[in-house]
Amino acid sequence: MWVAAHASSVAQILADRSFRVRPMAEPVPAAFEGRAAGEIFRHLVRMNDGDRHDRPKHILQRALSSLPAQIISSQATATAARLLPTTLDAEALTAWMYQAPVAVVAQLIGFPAGEQSAIARDVRDFVACLSALSTTEQLDDASAAAQRLRSRLSDTLASLQPTSGHLASHILADAHGAGWTDNGAIVANLVGLLSQTYEATAGLIGNSIVALANHQGLRDEVRSRVDGWQQLVHETSRYESPVQNTRRFAVESTTVLESILPPDAAILLVLAAANRDPNVNPEPRRFLLDRPNRCTFTFSRGPHACPGEAIARSIAVCALSVLERRLDGPALDRLAWKWKPTPNGRLPLFYDGNATRTA
Ligand code: HEM
Repeated sequence: MWVAAHASSVAQILADRSFRVRPMAEPVPAAFEGRAAGEIFRHLVRMNDGDRHDRPKHILQRALSSLPAQIISSQATATAARLLPTTLDAEALTAWMYQAPVAVVAQLIGFPAGEQSAIARDVRDFVACLSALSTTEQLDDASAAAQRLRSRLSDTLASLQPTSGHLASHILADAHGAGWTDNGAIVANLVGLLSQTYEATAGLIGNSIVALANHQGLRDEVRSRVDGWQQLVHETSRYESPVQNTRRFAVESTTVLESILPPDAAILLVLAAANRDPNVNPEPRRFLLDRPNRCTFTFSRGPHACPGEAIARSIAVCALSVLERRLDGPALDRLAWKWKPTPNGRLPLFYDGNATRTA
């Protein structure tokens, strides 16, 4: 596999439509073929190029950007506060930071409040087992979760009023107006919104907590500024990207910087390394709330740029502001973390550092 780690090579490849998100010969990983999880995978805009990407992407993007910022932040604040456990130990903190973002997006999609916890569990099971390295048993679990998500979504779509203002009703109305009538693909992409939210947004919240714990004085600086939480989340997304890499596949021979990539070349794009390229972010190892002209690749660029960036940032800011009232200085000092083993995520799992030290 080729590796692109400089800002210039990553930017060039992300912008070039002749690189694809899947190998031509294997649009769906062989291990997922014939399973419910594979059926979802096959339709995702994230995993397609050309026509199967552009029209659905445009519809998703329009629906996501039509949600008023005020609605997103009020729902994110209320949901983060409702789910925050009374006893906030390190494990409960980790569980909350995973559950809250996906519950917010489930609510925005149009799921009834009573179903949001079950949805978060299904998304967790779907994402946890969905890897090319998964065993048959894990793939069965992912497919069972995919099946549950699909049927919950179909029920929700059937019961939503067209004018409810929810994401799902915007997407349905727009899709049918634009001739995108494949309900299986629409449902799959709604599952995609939940699964794309899940780990990445948890990572953005978790890595912001890590930044507060690691950088002395940062918490006071954040608190003293009107835009403190926004800047914290933005600099965290650059400094400790929750999505570390993505991949592209060359269709034809292409020159990138001085390298000639052959047709079928597989390329690992290290977004997290590009974020720390000193050519675009001078002194990249410094965590600066006021970083001038901050340049981030965390949400990708070009045709596959993340349409959920604004929502993810808003959820992270609201969740951290809710948490702030409960996580005092000593609690922050006691927090320890390890990194979740994943092929492309930078995701902290918190534990109580004191408990380990005295054990
Ligand atoms: C911190 C949180 C998030 C991060 C870091 C993130 C990052 C990314 C990245 C890097 C990609 C593109 C990968 C590539 O180019 O190969 C992507 C695509 C996507 N993301 Fe996000 N994402 C986040 C949250 C969300 C949320 C909250 C949603 C929806 C509510 C979302 C929906 C999507 C979708 C639908 C795509 C596919 C776009 C396409 O292929 O055209 N993401 N995201």
